[in-house]
Amino acid sequence: MIVNMNSVFNIFLTINNYSHDIATAFLVASGFMLWSLSRHCPSPNNKEITSYFISIYNGIKAIAKYSLIWILIAGVPRVVFYKEFEWADTAGNMQIIVIGIKHIVMFLLVGIGITHWLRLERKVRKLK
Ligand code: HEM
Repeated sequence: MIVNMNSVFNIFLTINNYSHDIATAFLVASGFMLWSLSRHCPSPNNKEITSYFISIYNGIKAIAKYSLIWILIAGVPRVVFYKEFEWADTAGNMQIIVIGIKHIVMFLLVGIGITHWLRLERKVRKLK
């Protein structure tokens, strides 16, 4: 069987682009979980509950961190091959402006999320 390297590459790129969206969903979901967790911070007096809280926090934090890293990594080939792979002729050059606006909104939301995350991180450090 002859494997066409071009189509293998196309499949990987499709998966990569999809993973950029899925990682965004993971980041949003873990952001909500961190927010929910931050509203139920235990008192430092209860050692058992505190260590349980911290281990849940660390688990969700890892999902958020690796999702963000993955979004940034997968975004690079996506942007490089956008013209060949995802360009919509009907939308024309306007789509570049739309992608820019979408990502400004994304970066703002991620920025707000990171601010809250750092606040929670400080609370967790005090518990330790
Ligand atoms: C925290 C940062 C980011 C988030 C949350 C994010 C999220 C997303 C989402 C949800 C989409 C799909 C939009 C749609 O289908 O309508 C998308 C598309 C895309 N992203 Fe990102 N992205 C981020 C960073 C980046 C970076 C750093 C790059 C480039 C290096 C990038 C390049 C692209 C490209 C080329 C597309 C396809 C065009 C589009 O549909 O907007 N992204 N991104």
